[in-house]
Amino acid sequence: MLPLLVLCLWCLPLLTAKQISLSTPRRTVPLSGNGGHVFREEGVWNYSTMLLREDLGLLILGAREAIFALDLSNITHKRAMVKWQVPQEMQDKCSHKGKDSQIECQNYIRILHKIADGRMYVCGTNAFSPTCDYMSYTDGRLTLENKREDGKGKCPFDPFQRYASELVDGVLFSATSINFLGSEPVVMRGSPEPIRTDFKTSWLNEPNFIGMQHIAEGEQSPEGDDDKIYIFFSETAVEYDSYSKLEVSRVARVCKNDMGGMRTLQRKWTSFVKARLDCPVPDTSLPFLIQDVFRFCPGDWSTCVFYAVFTPQSHTSQYAAVCAYRIADIRQVFSEGKFKTPVPVETSFVKWVMYSGDVPFPRPGACINNEAREKGVSQSLDLPDRTLQFIRDRPLMDQAVQPISDHPLLVKRGAAFTRIVVAGAVALDGSSHQVMFIGTESGSVLKVVNYNGHTVIIEEVQLFQPTEPVKTLRLSSSMLYAGSEVAAAQMPLSSCGQYRSCLDCVLARDPYCGWKLTAKECTAVSSVQQDSHSDVIQSLTDGNATRCPLIESSKAVNMSFLPGNTIKLFCQPSSNLARVEWHVDKRLVISSDTYEIQRDGLLILNASAQASGLYTCRSVETYNNVDYITRNAAYELRQGSGQTRQAEETSLLLPQAQKQQNTVVALQVIVVFLSLMLIALIMWNVYNGHFKILGRHCNQGQEAEGGQEFAPTLEPLQAADGKVSKAGSNSNNNHNRRSEGKDMTQQIT
Ligand SMILES: *[C@@H]1O[C@H](CO)[C@@H](O)[C@H](O)[C@H]1NC(C)=O
Ligand SMILES: *[C@@H]1O[C@H](CO)[C@@H](O)[C@H](O)[C@H]1NC(C)=O
Repeated sequence: MLPLLVLCLWCLPLLTAKQISLSTPRRTVPLSGNGGHVFREEGVWNYSTMLLREDLGLLILGAREAIFALDLSNITHKRAMVKWQVPQEMQDKCSHKGKDSQIECQNYIRILHKIADGRMYVCGTNAFSPTCDYMSYTDGRLTLENKREDGKGKCPFDPFQRYASELVDGVLFSATSINFLGSEPVVMRGSPEPIRTDFKTSWLNEPNFIGMQHIAEGEQSPEGDDDKIYIFFSETAVEYDSYSKLEVSRVARVCKNDMGGMRTLQRKWTSFVKARLDCPVPDTSLPFLIQDVFRFCPGDWSTCVFYAVFTPQSHTSQYAAVCAYRIADIRQVFSEGKFKTPVPVETSFVKWVMYSGDVPFPRPGACINNEAREKGVSQSLDLPDRTLQFIRDRPLMDQAVQPISDHPLLVKRGAAFTRIVVAGAVALDGSSHQVMFIGTESGSVLKVVNYNGHTVIIEEVQLFQPTEPVKTLRLSSSMLYAGSEVAAAQMPLSSCGQYRSCLDCVLARDPYCGWKLTAKECTAVSSVQQDSHSDVIQSLTDGNATRCPLIESSKAVNMSFLPGNTIKLFCQPSSNLARVEWHVDKRLVISSDTYEIQRDGLLILNASAQASGLYTCRSVETYNNVDYITRNAAYELRQGSGQTRQAEETSLLLPQAQKQQNTVVALQVIVVFLSLMLIALIMWNVYNGHFKILGRHCNQGQEAEGGQEFAPTLEPLQAADGKVSKAGSNSNNNHNRRSEGKDMTQQIT
């Protein structure tokens, strides 16, 4: 027992360190610091539907009662807008049916698709009476054509209900509720050959539709197979013996050209099959539920991977997860796996078990392929009743679909994940990487890359303030667009210029960025010429920054104190993953009655004469067992003479700027600081003759801009500047995240 305990205590810090690197963003930055923009229009809400029109240079943004055409390169530039409001009598009718006239009886744009002729297909909830229309953008104007079509089954009635749709070769596939009450779910294909799911709980059981993806498998299929439509949702499970209602995530699939059956399954899918979608998060008992899915295909359809975000179904768990699924793995479950079948047990209870009897030919749920055609089945209308009845009663597969490597790519404690998109990035060495952008419930986006099984959260960008959940994410070749109920936002996929030092640039492990040695700047690797690759440092898998120049050690700042004072020496960690180490006269400082090590500095409590000495601080990041000193500071602390009297109990001593750095300084910041510093300077000069004010200003400005750089500062000044104190609160968050990491480890061990 005892050795085991010792072993565990020993392994705990290791695990903790690993967890921190897994689930802590290296940096936390505001959107403005990341070159982003926000769009919102007075009086308009619910910016939750987006269509990218790169051919027109537009982002089409669907909101409540309005559609916008925004400039793709800068969404603050509104090119056009069209309103689609609900007429008063319809609103009255809706509210008479018991719906809230100000909220539910409005028109929420829910579907936006580009059609072949360049126009767009638009649907809205239209006061619980879903309606679709055609829209065009010509001569800088957005016009609805007023060819109103019934939107039932395409678009939800209820604006709060999830839905999914995809337009394939001009035909709309949709997954939503087809009735006012929202109780009749369908997955359907629209005209000219409408087809849909059967109203049976074995097909769809109170589903929450999440996404729909077309896979063009039929294009060059040697088996003469058809294109597939994959549908992602969660629903109430039928396959568990459970007293309470249990939900599971599902992936279902239909064949694009399914025509339904002749007698059985008339105008219903003959190809609807579904399977459980697992995202196994350690130490959780209830299955996690899918919230969004993104299709990433580096090559033809067989290379496609579905990335999905998951959240727990019980509110006791605070983790969110990302799992990725290979199309081949899903396909195998559907085309080769066993089916489940219902068997009655006891009186009225049905249990779903693996079906082990004979499976008819053609295989139930399969698309029509060459093999079936050879046997005289050239379309689904020719399918024998045996096959049709089988699939009508048994659409559920026995086997669940497992994620790549059988575990999540990312598990993180904190705000739930809401949306995900994935961009491909080519690194300096030509290797390809998938960069995940994950939207959260708290309005931020995490930028995440997996390097050889190790997941790195490069940064967390706060898009919406105050926090508003991310409801939509879209990708262009260089930009990310996000929608929420209150605003839309845009940010570049990378902004390498934010990394100011070589270490910061290389340790970020951003596949888009590398440090250019000659130019001394962090640059986009896509812009690096072939012949100057050796001039650029990028190390993605190892975070190896040994080629970076060492940072200069800083000159000590002279400070004096009175016995009994409390002194704070500032030193900001260079990133959320950095740790700060303090030494006094080369001895390591550990927390005690005298010393309190804080995230942003060292507090010396009730300083005695022994507190004098040379204090040095360094911010250290460790990668692959190499310690990188990313920043440092030094203070020479001496007991002052009796003249520096007005120091009070908690007074903070004013350090001198340690070194002058050449940085871009925002002029406004300087002006503000100059005024503030002037006041401080006058006070300080009364008792101290030093006059080295310029150096401090430069550092100060830099700190305000970068939010990450540090310079010893006087606390009242820090508080006077919003940005600097925000940086402080970020580090508080980091603190929380660190302890979160520990919590998780405790759960796992
Ligand atoms: C629309 O936005 C408002 C304001 O944030 C929010 O209260 C409401 O729930 C949103 N409506 C829908 C249908 O999401
Ligand atoms: C985007 O537009 C806003 C408002 O017109 C402007 O302030 C900003 O500089 C523009 N940004 C870019 C990158 O063009």
